[in-house]
Amino acid sequence: MKPPIRIAIVGLGGFAGSHHTAVARLEERGHAKLICTCDPRADAFTQERETLGFAARGVQVFADYRAMLAACARDLDLVVIPTPINLHAEMHAAATALGLPVYLEKPPTLDHAELERMIAADTRAAKSSLVGFNFIVEKPRLALKERLIAGEFGALRSTTLSALWPRPASYFQRNDWAGRLMMADRPVLDSCFGNAMAHFVHNMLFWAGPHVLHSWAQLATVRAELYRAHVIEGADTFFVETTTTTGVNQRFALSHACAGTASHNETLLCERATLHYAVGRQIEIHWHDGRIERSTPEPFDGLECNHLEYHRYLRGETSRPATSLVDSRPFVALNDLAHVSSRIIASIPAHLISGVRDEKEQKDYLNVAGMNAACEAFLARGIWPGAHGWNHPGSESTTPADLVRFEATIRAMAMPHPKAD
Ligand SMILES: NC(=O)c1ccc[n+]([C@@H]2O[C@H](COP(=O)([O-])OP(=O)(O)OC[C@H]3O[C@@H](n4cnc5c(N)ncnc54)[C@H](O)[C@@H]3O)[C@@H](O)[C@H]2O)c1
Repeated sequence: MKPPIRIAIVGLGGFAGSHHTAVARLEERGHAKLICTCDPRADAFTQERETLGFAARGVQVFADYRAMLAACARDLDLVVIPTPINLHAEMHAAATALGLPVYLEKPPTLDHAELERMIAADTRAAKSSLVGFNFIVEKPRLALKERLIAGEFGALRSTTLSALWPRPASYFQRNDWAGRLMMADRPVLDSCFGNAMAHFVHNMLFWAGPHVLHSWAQLATVRAELYRAHVIEGADTFFVETTTTTGVNQRFALSHACAGTASHNETLLCERATLHYAVGRQIEIHWHDGRIERSTPEPFDGLECNHLEYHRYLRGETSRPATSLVDSRPFVALNDLAHVSSRIIASIPAHLISGVRDEKEQKDYLNVAGMNAACEAFLARGIWPGAHGWNHPGSESTTPADLVRFEATIRAMAMPHPKAD
């Protein structure tokens, strides 16, 4: 049996709680050992600390992550950082300064300039950090991408992502960074595109990454229209189109301003087949000669699989993490250029928005009339909603050279703050 990977987890609640559960299960099986954890509100988690058996497992608990790293760095192989997005860079810098690699929750940052600083900082660690985009390790995804780059389906022409995840009003009040564009005078950009459904956006860039398995599309041009229905600073609805440097057209339609069942569908149009990949549901290959291949992916525990796969890399059994900070560049640039291209976040006309009460959940949702039709029209035919009654004055075609305008765009977008209206 190999020695367990020795872990620190920054944070106790929110998604950090899910990492604690995953690591505790891996510890039971001898794969991992939680050495320490920290949270400024550590005392508020008495129940969780008891349930997770910290005392019996010998887990040290700190209030501050710097004190934790100073005390425990020598006993660690890995630091897990599943904390608010605006804290990722400083925490990653503190761990890598001590040579420690990081399992950093997605998104690493949503500011392209900060990402470059993090990439530079990461070279100090003994091994590359992992960015926790959940689905790159999925075996059926990797197998399908192998077939794609081997040319079995012919050239990839275009892709679409439709991702509609309803989120209640309380979702945007759960912490102080939800739905924010800026915090402490820095871009945060929390949104459905940059945060909750970032996995699927990154997946699409992965599909369009040419030639080798672990590759992501490089952007040539980006256009976008951003909208909000909720009273938040950032956007809750994105329509984005990019052309990659290898000529693939990629369209993305994502929203939290919807009600009913959540859906996410990745579609790839190739010369000889159309591929449909719905995480956790179904994979279909529709050959243009009429044949259909269908499969249902095995149940997939994203956190456990990503931990185990990253541990293999840390042990020297594989050559790279599933997604490194460098691999995250196209995703971060796409998110940033979407904001630059849109210039403003347009308010969806009030007459299209209605409140929907879910009595079972006791939660209130906002639903935009015509959301599904708007997504379909955009994804299938490139029809932008702005020109069809959604009040957006139209986007600008941007290229990576326009990233220099990112910060000024976000500052202009963030004023005035709708919450203060
Ligand atoms: N991979 C996924 O499926 C998935 C799912 C949900 C969230 N996430 C990601 O996880 C991260 C955290 O999201 P969240 O919604 O749990 O956020 P959150 O605001 O609930 O914070 C998570 C934890 O960090 C702790 N924390 C805050 N400041 C801290 C500090 N200074 N030192 C130590 N701990 C601190 C909080 O107390 C909390 O326990 C984000 O990057 C988010 O995108 C990933």
